[in-house]
Amino acid sequence: MQPRRKPWVAAQRDTAPKGRKNVAYTVPKLKDFSPAALDTAVAELVSALEQESTKPGNADQSKAFRDRWLARKDGILTQVNDLWLKAAPKEAKRDVGQRVNKLKTEVAQRVEAALAQGPITSSNASLDISLPGIRRPIGAEHAIIRTMNEIVGVFKNLGYSVAEGPVIETEYYNFEALNFPPNHPARDTQDTLFLANQESKPRREQLLLRTHTSPVQIRTMEKLKPPIRIVIPGKVHRNDPPDASHSPMFHQVEGLAVDTNITFGDLKGTLDHAMKALFGSDVKTSFRPSFFPFTEPSAEMFVSCFICGGSGKRGGGTKEEPCRPCKQTGWIEILGCGMVDPNVFEFVKHNGYDPEKVSGFAFGMGVDRIAMLKYGLDDLQLFFQGDVRFLEQFG
Ligand code: PHE
Repeated sequence: MQPRRKPWVAAQRDTAPKGRKNVAYTVPKLKDFSPAALDTAVAELVSALEQESTKPGNADQSKAFRDRWLARKDGILTQVNDLWLKAAPKEAKRDVGQRVNKLKTEVAQRVEAALAQGPITSSNASLDISLPGIRRPIGAEHAIIRTMNEIVGVFKNLGYSVAEGPVIETEYYNFEALNFPPNHPARDTQDTLFLANQESKPRREQLLLRTHTSPVQIRTMEKLKPPIRIVIPGKVHRNDPPDASHSPMFHQVEGLAVDTNITFGDLKGTLDHAMKALFGSDVKTSFRPSFFPFTEPSAEMFVSCFICGGSGKRGGGTKEEPCRPCKQTGWIEILGCGMVDPNVFEFVKHNGYDPEKVSGFAFGMGVDRIAMLKYGLDDLQLFFQGDVRFLEQFG
């Protein structure tokens, strides 16, 4: 048997076009008022009622449900009253009346229950899977951290381990144990940011923001016996006003290798390899004499400019212009390095670092400058302003 069309089902849709709120529901007219026919007709209505009232809905939908069934003018019960009860022949009136009353109670209960559900909640909300999801922006690794990790990675591949130390350091580790003479100008408050109110402490215990990662050389040698090979990434601070190439906070990667018979040749070979791994196999390295209290001899290492290829010029023909990153020299200063000064070993001699028996090399490079060169930036401050439009480009 073909299921009979239920005219009210279509009219019940929540998506009924606007302006058709008071749709006249057409409850079927009855020709046959026999108990069996009445049962079928009522059963159809009840099943429609059940279907509709068990659908989860919000407050507006519950009110619409109430109006559809109970509205005086066009409500389904009014129609039932008119089309079934009033139209019933005398002998069927009682029977129809009883059934309609039962139906009314049923409708009233369900409408009440629907209205009592209250406002929409997560359990009764209908789920619209076509709505766009909540976008959670994915962060990008900061260009400096990324560069730092790359540098560290090159040394990890050579068998170095990673060591870290505190950013708030004592005078002893930052200066004294690194063989800075007591009146060295770098200890001046000009360059070093000291913590306030420490005048009462002995000088070597006074706290400061470390000005380089070198104090971690001492801290590590106090803990680990030779041989050691470590890289030390970290934040450092100096009392420099911020500008395009300076920042009071910046980053370094330090390196230290100590063993028997380590030579300046090992230093050069290691750093030359590292620079080729970082900037490409074409770059050359150049070492020029320098001075650090904690290395002897000391050097500054330059790499051939990986922007102009060492020529000092960019572009060609009429477009030729001086190469700014290397200041037309063809060389870029990358790091400070040298052989660990025997005076430094004296401070950790008790842990196996006898300057008569071991030797080593150390180096320290500025990460921020390398990141600037790598990404072709001319303003260091871009890294620290926190502008997401800039930062997200490194994702
Ligand atoms: N600590 C030095 C600086 O900050 C760099 C350096 C590290 C030099 C290790 C030699 C050896 O300038």
